[in-house]
Amino acid sequence: MGEKEMIVNPYNVEGKINYERLVKEFGLERIDDKILKKIKKHVGEIHPMLRRGIMFAHRDLNWILDEYEKGNKFFLYTGCGPSGPIHIGHLQIWYFTKWLQDKFDCELYFQFTDDEKFLYKNLSYEEIQKWTEENMLDVIAVGFNPKKTHFIVDTKHAGIMYPEAIKIAKKITFSTIKASFGFTDSNNIGSIFYTSMQAVPAILPSVLKGKNIPCLIPLGVDQDPHFRIARDVFPKLGFYKPAIMHKVMFPSLTGINNVMSSSKGSVIITANDSPSEVKNKINKYAFSGGRDTVEEHRKLGGNPEIDVSFQYLKHFFEEDDEKLKEIEKNYKSGKMLTGELKKYTIKKINEFLAKHQERRKHAKNLISQYMLKV
Ligand code: TRP
Repeated sequence: MGEKEMIVNPYNVEGKINYERLVKEFGLERIDDKILKKIKKHVGEIHPMLRRGIMFAHRDLNWILDEYEKGNKFFLYTGCGPSGPIHIGHLQIWYFTKWLQDKFDCELYFQFTDDEKFLYKNLSYEEIQKWTEENMLDVIAVGFNPKKTHFIVDTKHAGIMYPEAIKIAKKITFSTIKASFGFTDSNNIGSIFYTSMQAVPAILPSVLKGKNIPCLIPLGVDQDPHFRIARDVFPKLGFYKPAIMHKVMFPSLTGINNVMSSSKGSVIITANDSPSEVKNKINKYAFSGGRDTVEEHRKLGGNPEIDVSFQYLKHFFEEDDEKLKEIEKNYKSGKMLTGELKKYTIKKINEFLAKHQERRKHAKNLISQYMLKV
């Protein structure tokens, strides 16, 4: 697939992603030093994912920070499509969202799109319900503030969502949906309507409280098209456009030019993998930027840019900048071997997952606490 055929939408990510081009084509703004300073001014620190450009772009972030400064607080909105196990790419954006919630002390509306996954996947309604409950445990394990976090399950909260969804849907044409997602006449009619359901939580708190409240949506950039469409509609209905923060896609084990995805049948590291599963997956599949032989590696050094283990540390699992720099230097110079880098990465992932899995054990009783009450 050539440079030109990059596809990035919620239902298909293909080709090597050129983020510079994506910023232009989607009409995003870069997260730059100026905006990082502004965030730091409010919360006193900058999350590693911001410092390292993993959260790389935004829409209207300046506006939402200005409003915050004026005392007009925003709420957060993100979500999960429940059709299989949670992988580390999902965890990455959710843990970042938790950081935002803690730092800005805000409400979070978390959507479970059981309708979407039923419409798009070859799974029964019952199977989707099972995944919804399973995935909820992982979301709870992230540690969101139970007093300020509200789960929305599309089919369960349909009564309050549907009136808003139809207002949104009435202002979106089939041709817009076709062009944005590459749909054809053979797509089922539910999938055509679905964008309006994903739009609703961005305005639902405003509807419920009877006043406009700014909304910030952290997401993987593939989800942006839903909100690009919805942002055009909201002002027509008298609401603010939500602000958005975009994350780069999480690299697949087999190479940084593919994305980690459960739907493409590739090997994923899930939130509930055992230590030995993580070890085997990294050792067996994680693409190495090292040389073919130890002698060559010692002499010429490895390439961290394309090394999946190093990239996992950079994306998420190594918070300490100094440590990351040291690893990069030693790997490049040949002092550190691929085996050593993998061993360290396995240790970091397993330490992280052990804590996540421990919290998950106690999550079941908390579900009702997190559910949005209406
Ligand atoms: N559609 C998303 C998925 O398949 C889930 C989702 C719903 C979401 N609302 C969201 C993701 C808002 C980011 C932001 O995973």
